[in-house]
Amino acid sequence: MPELEDPLEIGGVELPNRLYRAPLLECAGEGSDAADRLRSELEPAAESGAGLVFQGAAPVRESGGRVAPSMTGFADDEFVAGLSELTDAVHDHGGRIFVQLDHGGLRSLEAWHAEYRRANPDLRQLAVSRPPWPLRLLDRLGFLHFDARVLTTAEVYDLAADFGRAAARAADAGYDGIHLAGANMGMLQQFLSPFYNRRDDEFADGVRFLELVHDEIRERAGDLPLVVKVPAETETPPFVRRRLSADDAVEICERLGRVGYDAVAPVRVSTFWDMSIVRGEFPERAWRDERFREGYAAAFGSRWRAALVAAANRAEAVVYDFDAAWNADLARRVRERVSIPVLLEGGIRTREQIDELLGDSSGGDTGISPACDAVGMGRPFYAEPRLPARLLREERGQRGELEREGAYER
Ligand SMILES: Cc1cc2nc3c(=O)[nH]c(=O)nc-3n(C[C@H](O)[C@H](O)[C@H](O)COP(=O)(O)O)c2cc1C
Repeated sequence: MPELEDPLEIGGVELPNRLYRAPLLECAGEGSDAADRLRSELEPAAESGAGLVFQGAAPVRESGGRVAPSMTGFADDEFVAGLSELTDAVHDHGGRIFVQLDHGGLRSLEAWHAEYRRANPDLRQLAVSRPPWPLRLLDRLGFLHFDARVLTTAEVYDLAADFGRAAARAADAGYDGIHLAGANMGMLQQFLSPFYNRRDDEFADGVRFLELVHDEIRERAGDLPLVVKVPAETETPPFVRRRLSADDAVEICERLGRVGYDAVAPVRVSTFWDMSIVRGEFPERAWRDERFREGYAAAFGSRWRAALVAAANRAEAVVYDFDAAWNADLARRVRERVSIPVLLEGGIRTREQIDELLGDSSGGDTGISPACDAVGMGRPFYAEPRLPARLLREERGQRGELEREGAYER
């Protein structure tokens, strides 16, 4: 069975090992310091040995479709070209870097961020279909604001082309591959999910949109490896009947493999944008920190609304308690059915766990098949930016090298 230190090929690109930094929003913005900010977030992961770094979600359009403030868009040629210093830096450390392309659709800032909406009064959310009733209810109650415009068939084609254009910019700037934000309630999930997708054109089958995005990327950016997160909406509250089951997610992964995707990252999520993607303790410090209070009030419209969102977040942390390697069973099912690499992330924390997930049988044959071909971590990188140095084995010489460079002390 492969070990964490063994190389892995994704779509013809070789990763030096099977440890990746999962996509996490860097909030580096689009200013003249964006490349530096991204570099300070991402380079330590590559420098300390991560085989692959996924840059967090990057909107494919100049305006609209941004899911959070200060995102780094991939819609401007000159700006993206300037990120080559980031890709060069990662390559100098022997690592690979993919960027995750995104459009938020109904999840965009213009639906939930009060201050952003005031500053951009003409922006309407792009939607796969009319927003489902729970979202319309939240709109009525004043917690969200929907002024959605359902995409025509021609506009769906335009949107897919924008993914292709953004991928071409990434290729020119030296990125090694593309990741697509297929989960976290973004536009791709909205196409795939029967909760959102009530269309009656060719895109009633949401995989068709991902097929089109694939074709656009291939046409405009060549053979860059293409990875996508695939959602199973197993964490959805019971009052939502139409959702993607784990069986659906497995089938979607199989179809995407046939379409030509080079790797999949299956994740168990909800139909909503909630804590199911980042299970664990309530982030008390983030909510209590005085420095952020004004920002929360601006985003949610007032201090008391921000307090309500914090309370909902606290309740969700109870429902979506930390669960070690919570996507492992789903990933294992997918891996049994596809011939492309399966990436696994979510609640993975120790080397022992990683070895088990990759199928290490040195402790005796467990009879359990490997869950994945590569393992990713997200939040641990916040606490320990040079985490790979600790997880990758010493005998490969990496540790000695890093110690000489002082990577552990920084
Ligand atoms: C602050 C934050 C930002 C995230 N941003 C993204 C993102 O841009 N795209 C994405 O697909 N997942 C995103 N995720 C999810 C992570 O990629 C990862 O799946 C999740 O954190 C679970 O892994 P972990 O337990 O190792 O943190 C984000 C998670 C966090 C905490």
